[in-house]
Amino acid sequence: MSTSEKIVLAYSGGLDTSVAIGWIAEATGAEVIAVAVDVGQGGEDLDTIRKRALACGAVEAYVADARDEFADEYCLPALKANALYMDRYPLVSALSRPVIVKHLVKAAQQHGAGTVAHGCTGKGNDQVRFEVGITALAPELKCIAPVRDLALTRDKAIDFAERNNLPIETTKKNPYSIDQNVWGRAIETGFLEDIWNPPIEDIYTYTQDPAEPRDPDEVVITFDEGRPVAIDGETVTMLQAIEILNQRAGAHGVGRLDMVEDRLVGIKSREVYEAPGAIALIAAHQELENVTVERELARFKRTVDQRWGELVYDGLWSSPLKQALDGFIDDANAHVSGEIRMVLHGGRAVVTGRRSGQSLYDFGLATYDTGDTFDQSHAKGFIELFGMSTKLAAVRNQKNG
Ligand code: ARG
Repeated sequence: MSTSEKIVLAYSGGLDTSVAIGWIAEATGAEVIAVAVDVGQGGEDLDTIRKRALACGAVEAYVADARDEFADEYCLPALKANALYMDRYPLVSALSRPVIVKHLVKAAQQHGAGTVAHGCTGKGNDQVRFEVGITALAPELKCIAPVRDLALTRDKAIDFAERNNLPIETTKKNPYSIDQNVWGRAIETGFLEDIWNPPIEDIYTYTQDPAEPRDPDEVVITFDEGRPVAIDGETVTMLQAIEILNQRAGAHGVGRLDMVEDRLVGIKSREVYEAPGAIALIAAHQELENVTVERELARFKRTVDQRWGELVYDGLWSSPLKQALDGFIDDANAHVSGEIRMVLHGGRAVVTGRRSGQSLYDFGLATYDTGDTFDQSHAKGFIELFGMSTKLAAVRNQKNG
């Protein structure tokens, strides 16, 4: 066994991280251990990715199947928090980083590596999520980012790959930067950097064009304490629930987003997303909360949900505040059980029915028809006292002109 320094690299199988293996080895003299994490990104066969890492000079290469773990421990908490950064973005990339980090740290500890490397640039959120995430789990580990710290540019990467005959495609020019997992897909750069340019149909793979004529699809989602447990009566795992809705909601173009986003590093960036399963699930979960969560708890939870999303976006998955909020969010989901019926059509997931043994909706209190049990005579006094402080202020202001 060699005694040289070991570095664990977050490996995607793409050009940059393939070249990074040799680039890091040359720059530092360390041995590189490549770790790829399957978060449901699909695409290439994982064994092909593993073999490529070895062919590019990694001393060891692993692929961790983290799909269920990602769905259960990362996507589910996001669903319970109705997590939408800037009220829109379901945190696709932000959610996958902490589970990748967990596997990198595990590999570093198993192999006695002192450093973890990732392929992020110096302009994005992901570098923060990796490095703060690693610090939170293993404060003794160091981080390097070859693209940012070792001057590994795209042109140099292509040149390096060709010179060293690395088994990786360098000619196929993808103009976009894409990150995808089972919770959704992010598309950046290329012609999208002109924020007046509309997205073209070509960039989407999880969703069909919502403008194409199609018959609507009706789906019933069953939740238990905030967790989706069945679809149309068939028991599902969290991962299956997301996958099934990616298919069914994706077929109707649900979950496409085009937005300018506030990055943690201070810049605004154009982002296109597609997250059909996530958007359908969040819409259903939110509505079931409307039916089952008491008003004051629901109002406060909206503030907590927003803060939770910002913390996760900002790379603070393992921070004390985020963890404390998890406790609140879990508690608030204790009664979020029941069924939601939705229609998927024309780019939208629209709730059309709700049914729950935990419902706070009281037909007798709500109805305007016969069977009304609401005693309207209490309303007059209630309003009198409820409005008292506002009225006192108004009278004072009137008196003082
Ligand atoms: N802006 C999004 C985020 O920060 C997406 C990042 C996608 N990453 C990428 N390498 N394309 O969560």
